[in-house]
Amino acid sequence: MTTALVAHAAALDAEAPLAHVRQRFLLPAGIVYLDGNSLGPLPAAVPSALHDLVHRQWGTDLIRSWNSNGWWEAPTRIGDRVGRLIGAAPGQTVAGDSTSVQLYNALSAAAALRPDRPYLVTDPGDFPTDRYLTDAVATQLGLEARRVSPADLEDFLEKEGDRVAVVCHSPVDYRTGELHHMAAPTRAAHEAGALVLWDLCHAAGAMPIQLDALEADFAVGCGYKFLSGGPGAPAFLYAARRHHADWRPPVTGWNGHADPFGLHDTYEPAPGIGKARIGTPPILSLLALEAALTVFDDVDMAQVRAKSLSLTGFFLDCAAQLLDGLGFEPVTPAVPERRGSQVSLRHAHAYGLARALESRGVIGDMRAPDLLRFGVNALYTSHAEILSAVTCLREISTTGAYDPTAVAAGAVT
Ligand SMILES: Cc1ncc(COP(=O)(O)O)c(C=O)c1O
Repeated sequence: MTTALVAHAAALDAEAPLAHVRQRFLLPAGIVYLDGNSLGPLPAAVPSALHDLVHRQWGTDLIRSWNSNGWWEAPTRIGDRVGRLIGAAPGQTVAGDSTSVQLYNALSAAAALRPDRPYLVTDPGDFPTDRYLTDAVATQLGLEARRVSPADLEDFLEKEGDRVAVVCHSPVDYRTGELHHMAAPTRAAHEAGALVLWDLCHAAGAMPIQLDALEADFAVGCGYKFLSGGPGAPAFLYAARRHHADWRPPVTGWNGHADPFGLHDTYEPAPGIGKARIGTPPILSLLALEAALTVFDDVDMAQVRAKSLSLTGFFLDCAAQLLDGLGFEPVTPAVPERRGSQVSLRHAHAYGLARALESRGVIGDMRAPDLLRFGVNALYTSHAEILSAVTCLREISTTGAYDPTAVAAGAVT
């Protein structure tokens, strides 16, 4: 059975696109890295870019670099680069801060564009920060946070849509890897007069996203997962151009002022996306992200999606053949159109298994209480690696070479 899978993996790798892009990453030998949906690996262009930034730009050019090395424009320049991956025409995306801060900014400002509507809607299964911030913004603005799952959203909008100010959802479920539709809910929300804010943390860089064509209102996402911008990389915020005249981000830092160096007494927002800037941009991490984004040069996102689906589909096939009867339950949809770029398996001993895999050089992760997550990135993951990860999981399970009593404590990678 495994011999056939080995041959199948080799055939799939031989015909898969993007094989040459793997060399744009510095992947450690002997590691199967399936956690790029949490922290992308190091792109080869980053160390030299950071060396130049630290030694020449900061070390020698000093403060002149704000002008001479393009530091001042970095948030919008790099925002536009991310924009190319999410279907946003230039001038609508800014890079900086964390996703949580960008969510707060976008949610508060979007809600203010729909006064007299009492509901902010989020998904009960969304990442905690989305739920916490929806609750917090609702409290601050005297609104009500409503939790509505993607499956129930269109029904909810039909019944109560005229009370909804903003819908904040993610296209990919961070635990199960399920991919939700974006077009139909965006349309339904607009028909009800509501605005839509997409959290693209698990989608940006992993699949084609067309924010402009969707007529999305706002979007946020992080730089450290599929964009491989490094630990704590700056996030991004997209605001559709049609909202630029009226939109007022609530965090009115001096960088977002129309005339920041005028040092005025009162705040006057910059025109366009510039008003989404807050404070002095984190140049070290912004320029690391900028260098990281070169891995996408000449990359066709349709090919990224096709290869990602081949990888996750092959993972599910391997799991069906090699893990049957060992206590694993795949929770990622088998239907390709409903899969993001990860596979999740439920198992009662997920934590112990994840640690045992890691000690054998297979790095995935788990989410409490019982989900093993394996992220694939079409830019560097191979079908052979998928097979070796599932084979390793089978060996650990059948030999009992893991601690079934291990439980996650503290930070879980
Ligand atoms: C879907 C989603 N939204 C938001 C966040 C939080 O991002 P940040 O830590 O940049 O605030 C995460 C982090 O993993 C996430 O997965």
